[in-house]
Amino acid sequence: MHLHVNGRSREVHPASDASLLTVLRDELQLTGTKEGCDRGECGACTVLVDGRPVYACLTLAVAVDDATIVTVEGLGSNAAPHPVQAAFAALDAAQCGFCTPGQVVSACALLARNAAPTEAEIRDAMSGNLCRCGTYPKIIAAIQAAARGEFGALPVAGSAR
Ligand code: FES
Ligand code: FES
Repeated sequence: MHLHVNGRSREVHPASDASLLTVLRDELQLTGTKEGCDRGECGACTVLVDGRPVYACLTLAVAVDDATIVTVEGLGSNAAPHPVQAAFAALDAAQCGFCTPGQVVSACALLARNAAPTEAEIRDAMSGNLCRCGTYPKIIAAIQAAARGEFGALPVAGSAR
């Protein structure tokens, strides 16, 4: 089967019961996507599938044949980070950082569909991403700063750069 991952077409050979998370991390070595609970509770594994945020641990790889996947690696680079990535870094929106890739992906998905969310809308959209370090105030502040354009213009929904 094929996946279009971060702008590249990739041929992968998953077992019938393999999750998208397993394929991304173990077959494609895209380890930015984290495995937290592995049962759909924490959001650490969030990626975009055809522009929608999903839990990769709960997504069967074979169910997304030919889909367009964007992982945290596809949102930006060290040289040219996505505005949300830049905001998280500049505003210290991570402590241990384990939840951060999923947080960033969910925040990007939110801003792609709602460029000026209220704080309540941010909290609602981010409710599927848990942070054991409790950095929620800084995460919200980073998303608000990115929405205000303080870290550059937001790219087109679901796109990899
Ligand atoms: S690892 Fe997928 S939701 Fe926790
Ligand atoms: S920064 Fe540690 S779990 Fe969120």
